[in-house]
Amino acid sequence: MQQAIAILDSGVGGLTVAKEVMRQLPREKVIYFGDTARTPYGPRSSEEVKQFTEQIVDFLIQFDPKVIVIACNTATAAALDHISQKVDIPVIGVIHPGARAAITATKTGNIGVIGTMGTINSGAYTTALKQLSPYINVMSQACPALVPLVEQGDFRSEHTRSTVSESLNGMKDKPIDTLILGCTHYPFLMETIGQVMGPHVKLISSADETARETSTILYDKGKLAIGDETPVHQFFCSGDPVMFQSIARSWLGEQIRNTPVVWQVS
Ligand code: SIN
Repeated sequence: MQQAIAILDSGVGGLTVAKEVMRQLPREKVIYFGDTARTPYGPRSSEEVKQFTEQIVDFLIQFDPKVIVIACNTATAAALDHISQKVDIPVIGVIHPGARAAITATKTGNIGVIGTMGTINSGAYTTALKQLSPYINVMSQACPALVPLVEQGDFRSEHTRSTVSESLNGMKDKPIDTLILGCTHYPFLMETIGQVMGPHVKLISSADETARETSTILYDKGKLAIGDETPVHQFFCSGDPVMFQSIARSWLGEQIRNTPVVWQVS
C-alpha cells in the first residue's frame, strides 16, 4: 500500500499547505488532521501545544506515513524539535520554509511577520530569519483575532475586512517590503491582507516552500510515489465535520471526496 504524507494543523489552516502539496506532488496520498475542537492553538501555552501535537502524531503514526508535515506555525514553534526526536521518519515544519521564501523575496531586507501569540512570542521567525541572514530587520506582530475568523469560514465579510484592518494597524506603516503570513490560516485572508498592506508589500505564505521541501526530502530518500493511480486523500478533524468539509471543499475542490472522519481528542 502507498505510504502517505501526514499533515496536521490546529484546524483548517494547514489545508493551505495540503493544497500546495497536492499540486506539487499529485501522485502522493495525503492524510490530514485538523484539531478543530481545540483550535486556536495561538493563545495556549507552548507546553500544551506540544502535548496536543504529540497526541496527534501518535494518532497519525498508526497510518505508517512516510513524512509528517506540521502545517501549523504555533505547533512548529512549540513542538518541531520534540517530534523530530520522537519519530523515525522526517518531520517538516513551516517556519524555516517561510523564512527562506521571505529572504528570497525581500529587496530591502525589511521583513514583517504576523502570526499567533504563541508563534510571535516564541521568536521563532526572528531566529530563523537571522540564522539565514543576520542583516535582516524583522518587525513582528501578533494578530490573535484572525484564526477564529477562518475557522468560522468567514473570509470576505465586512466584519472580516475591519478585523483584518485593525489587526494590521501596527504593521501597515512599517517600512517593510515583505510580510510573512506566519500562520497557515492567514492565506485564506490573503486578498484582504493584500488590500490593507498595499501592492508594495509582497505576502509570503510558507505553503509553496514547505511543499517543495517535502518533495526534496522524499526525492532524496527515494520515497516519491510511483504509478498513475489518483490518490484518495483522507481527512480527520476533532470538531464539527460539516464545517470542516465546507471550508475544505471551498479551498481544495474535488480533492476532498470523502466526508471527514471525526477523531475525538480528550
Ligand atoms: C492557531 O491555531 O492559533 C494557528 C495555527 C498556526 O499558527 O498556523
